[in-house]
This record gives sequence, C-alpha cells and structure tokens, in this order.
Amino acid sequence: MTSVGTPVERQDARAKVTGAATYAYEHRVDGVLYAWPVTSTIARGRVADIDVDSAMVTPGVVAVLHAGNAARLETDIDLGPVQQASVPELYVLQSDKIAYRGQIVAAVIATSAEAAREGAENLLVRYEEQAYDAVFRAQDPRAYVPAMLGDLGPGNVSRGDADAALETAEVVVDVAYTTPAQHPHPMEPHSTLARWTDGRLTLYSSEQGPSNTSQAFAALLAMDADDVEVVCDYVGGGFGAKASPRPPAVLAVLAAKLVDRPVKVAWNRRLMTAHATYRSPTIQRIRLGADGNGKLGAIVHEAQHMTSALSDYVDQTASSARMMYAAEHARTTGTAVRLDVPSAGWMRGPGETPGMFGLECAMDELAYRLDLDPIELRIRNEPEVDPSDGKPFSSRNLLTCLQTGAEQFGWADRDRRPGTRRYGRWLVGTGVAASRYPVFTVPSRAYATAETDGTFTVAIGAVDIGTGSRTVLTQIAADALEVPVARIRLDLGRASYSVAAFAGASLGTASWGWAVEKAGRTLKARLRDGAPLGTVVDVDTTAEVSAMRDVSRNAYGAQFAEVKVDTVTGQIRVERMLGVFAAGRIINPRTARSQLIGGMIMGIGGALMEAADIDEALGDFVQSDLAGYHFPTHADISDIDIVMLPEADDELSPVGSKGIGEIGVVGAAAAIANAVHHATGQRFRNLPLRLEDVRDAALDGTNSYLGPR
Ligand code: MOS
Repeated sequence: MTSVGTPVERQDARAKVTGAATYAYEHRVDGVLYAWPVTSTIARGRVADIDVDSAMVTPGVVAVLHAGNAARLETDIDLGPVQQASVPELYVLQSDKIAYRGQIVAAVIATSAEAAREGAENLLVRYEEQAYDAVFRAQDPRAYVPAMLGDLGPGNVSRGDADAALETAEVVVDVAYTTPAQHPHPMEPHSTLARWTDGRLTLYSSEQGPSNTSQAFAALLAMDADDVEVVCDYVGGGFGAKASPRPPAVLAVLAAKLVDRPVKVAWNRRLMTAHATYRSPTIQRIRLGADGNGKLGAIVHEAQHMTSALSDYVDQTASSARMMYAAEHARTTGTAVRLDVPSAGWMRGPGETPGMFGLECAMDELAYRLDLDPIELRIRNEPEVDPSDGKPFSSRNLLTCLQTGAEQFGWADRDRRPGTRRYGRWLVGTGVAASRYPVFTVPSRAYATAETDGTFTVAIGAVDIGTGSRTVLTQIAADALEVPVARIRLDLGRASYSVAAFAGASLGTASWGWAVEKAGRTLKARLRDGAPLGTVVDVDTTAEVSAMRDVSRNAYGAQFAEVKVDTVTGQIRVERMLGVFAAGRIINPRTARSQLIGGMIMGIGGALMEAADIDEALGDFVQSDLAGYHFPTHADISDIDIVMLPEADDELSPVGSKGIGEIGVVGAAAAIANAVHHATGQRFRNLPLRLEDVRDAALDGTNSYLGPR
C-alpha cells in the first residue's frame, strides 16, 4: 500500500470548487477596517505635503496613514541571503523619500474597501520631483556587481582562459539576446488581514512562506517570531511574487497599528506591477567557441540586469552556462544598473529562465554553423562531472531526455534546412532546447500526532500555493505511517505549525517531505514500541540536510516545439510541444503533470507574449493590467504533452524528488525561438518574438529561403 507515485486527487479540490477554501482576504474578524494605498505619481523625489483633510471628508474614512504617523520599523535587519535584497522595499512609509513611481506614499483607512479607495482618490499629495533615469541600456558605465552575484552568489566566475580559447576556436558564435521584464501576476493578488491582539500579531496573508513571513515581520517589529502568526491556509499562486513578504502586508500591519483595529488590504491588478516583483530585463552576450566537430572549448555568458534605487535583487542569469556543457574554458558574469524604477525580484526559474533562453538559442546557432543536429551537438558536449566545480552529478539524465523526446516528437524525420516546410501561407519549423533547474533542500520541522480515533495529524509550516503540496505531503505522510491517505490529516499554511521551508526554488516537496516522512516514520516506530494513542512526535531535519554529500544536484529536461509562422501577418502559433523531464521521483503524476505543463505554457507566454516595458516618460511599466500584459489563454495552446522519466537518485532527500515547480518554464522559449528560426530561416534574439518583428525581418522578401514576395 503505497500512495507515493500514484495520481491521488487533490485533497483540497472540493474545498476550492465549492468556495469553502478560505483565502487571506476572506477571513472574517469583528471590527475590521479597510485600507487602500495612495501611490506616488512621480518616479523620484519626496512627498512635500499631504492634505489629510482632503481624504477625511470622504464618508466612511477613519484615518489617513502616512510617513508622519506610521509606526517606525526596525532598521538594519538581517533576513539572510535569500530575502535580504528585498528588505529595503519593506520600509513602507518610513520616510518622505520616493524611489519609484507607484511607491506607497499614504493609505486611507475606512469602514469599507470602497470608501477607502474613494478617500485615496481624494487625497491631495504634493511632491517635490527630482530628475530620474528609467532607461535600461546596454553597456551602461554605472553597471556594478550586486551582492547576490558577487559576495553571496557565484555569479562572476571563470575557469581556464576563455578569451584565449575563443581566439583559437575553429567556429565562434558571438550573439546577443534580450529578455524583457515580466510580471508573475499570480491569480490571487497580494492581500493581507492584519490583527493585533495583546501584543501579538496575526497576519492572514497570501504568502509563499508562512515561516519566512513570520520571521521577517518579527524582525521589522522587534518581536519574537512566536508572537507573529501567519495564516496562509489557501494561496492563489505566487510564481515568486510572494516568496518574500511584500509592501502590501507591511501596509496592513502599519494601518492596523495606527487605528488599533484589524485592517484588510487587497491589491488590485494594477497595483501589482510596482510591488509584486518582476523578472529583471536582461541584455545577454554569449560567445561559444568550438572545434570543427562541435566540441566546445569556450563558453562566455555575460548578463546585464536592472536593479532599483531600493533593491539589489538580481537573477543568476548566467549560472546555467557554467555547468551545462563540458567546455574547458568558461566565464560567466552578471552586472546590474540601478535605475529609478520598481524593484525586480523572484519569478519562476529566476535566472535559469532568461539565461537558458540565451544559452540554448546560442547552442542552436552553433549547431547550424557546424551543420550538425542540435541534439548531436549536445551529446558531443555532455560532461562527466559538473564542469563548474568538478563535483560528481547526483544524477544527470539530460541526454536521455533529449533522446526520449526525439523519438516521441519525431525528430529523426526532420529536414534540418530552415524555411523548407511551407503550407499555404504558413511556414513550419521545429526546435529543441535543454532545461535545467538546481535542486535545493532546506531544513524543516514537522509534528505528527496519533489521534485517538485512529487517524493521524501531521502539521508543518509549509504552504500549498496551488501546486498540490497539501496532497503530496499527505501521500508522503500516509506511506511513512503505513496507512491510507484517508487516515491522514495534513495541516499546513500556518507559521505556528512549525518552522519550515518556503514554497520557492522548487524545494518545497523535498524539504517539507523529508520532515513529514521523518515525523511519520518516527511516530510509527514509537507506536510499535507501545506508545499510546495521543502521542506526538516533533522532528527536524537540520542534521540530515547538513549531512548531505557535496555533489551537483540538478533536474534536467528537453523541450521540443513545432511552430507555424504566418507569412502575411507574422503571427506565430505553437502547434505542438513536448517536454521530457528527469526530476527524480514523481510523488504524484497528476499534480506533477499540471506543474510541468503549466511551466511550459508560461514558457510559451515568455516566448511570444509576456513583456513589461518601462515608459520612459513616467518611469513605470506601460502594461499595468491584464488587458495590456498578455499571456497564453486556452486558444493559444494546442497539443502540449510531457513525459516524466523514471529517475532514481540516492543523493536526494529520502523523498527522492528533485522539484518540478520551475523546470517546465526553463528552455521552453528557446525551443520555440529555435523552431521559428527553422520555420523562417531568420534568428529572432529578442523576447518576446513579436509578430511585427517576424513580419518585418523574416518575411519581407529578403529571406533567401522564401524568394521574392
Ligand atoms: Mo520561486 S521564483 O523561487 O518562488
């Protein structure tokens, strides 16, 4: 009787479809008030004056929160390397300074959300404006190396002498790619209900980490983390936007403190672009040097990013290029330019997604230069150990993914020559790219209780942001306790349940699952030894996680795409997509399939639609709602499928999973861009692939494959 590996239905499916699932904003408490933010209309400067009375005359308005009356937050807090870069954004209303357009400058608190919003619209704010710079350009002389790439991350590293190796290489590809800013836009915008009771704080909040949110607010408010409860029973997605606390939650806390009443805050879609993270735009230059057989000698990947006046957050864009292929010489660098814009942050596959777009397109370009099949090129450059540090791989099944995908996709029949398949007005092409996402494991704590009715309760400060964590942890607990899933009650979503990992970096299942498995197994053993019903065990995996061997752990995949390109309009349609992934043990093929396909669909959006452009005249994003910020709908998705390769890896947590939340998006855009090249004979190196670019560049009669129009 094992549950792990079987397609158990989502434990919360009924609660969600019947509306019984309670999201943050839906919690009811007596005496609640509502706050609506007032946000800066200038990109840089200071608030000169706030006319509080202009909002107070609005019926229902109770108070105006501003920098003059907001509680002071602790400065110089240290939340650790993962979250520290986002900390400056949390100092909401702590000064009159404005660092970006859309920054919170006040909030109106009222008896209804509508009254608060009307009051906010009435509030008169006078600004002193300063000159700002919101233009992200290549080779900006102000570029610097942020801490996340320098001191804290392995962003700027080299092995051998890549420049010398490029000099002597028989074939050199030297290409530049750009990727735009992208917004995570989870279905549920950020929302928080903050309530103070007897010096304790409870946040009903939409977060990816109950524990890290509790710890962050405890630090900001100089409180004990045990006195900051964070309730995230149900969360409508995150994609990184909720991986660390954001300004809306701080606003709720400050508002509740000011009026000494519970306060609810909910962001709307338009507010999300300034405060809910975005993937930094990148400008990448990639150089690959190879011999005539396609053996890589040098890889150079240089990535430029945008940071903000407040935050140093930066992606590890070039990290994959260090370890994907066996080149003796390599250099990967990352830099950033500080601009007067909202702050970038986590978004699904942060770094891997834009970085593997560049690298996997460049590999395709090299394959064409060598007149070599792109899969064969990767086979010829498969490393035996991690090229970045010489460590053994815990497992690496990239080639199996590529070969399995090639068989299932029908790659062998492919005519490599671009621009040769034409059906009426459509050109058709296929492309391939590799995927990779690292495996992380974080210590967690969990409790297991043998209830007197024969059921078991397992509690952990994990969270299910829609991925299926509640279900897979129930399965893991059931197997550890050797009972059917129906006898498990899995409590998650609250900081008070235990200190546990956040739902990010694809590390949840392995990290929480280890603690859940250990709790279940320990309790089972205690019961066998005669412990009575009612027994509770409390376990922690810190020792086990730190005892893990020092090896290179990564999940791999292969993405295949078939596109058709309209020779009249430039429209690109993804006709067919196949992803093959080797990500360790799959706990639940039903929820895993959703995760992987969801990632690939996000990759289609990244390839063809998603872009957030800074309006230079305002210093803020142009596409501030879902009418302007496009991503795929059902009509954009045709035939999409995945294969999960069985993979046993004994260097992982006992759960055996590598993480599947992010790898589905990595490489997807490259596969599509490579397919567009195969269809049209033209390279498009700037995401998204806009139909006007394709129409103008590929289909204007200059394309030798197409002949005159
Ligand atoms: Mo994920 S971008 O680590 O929340």
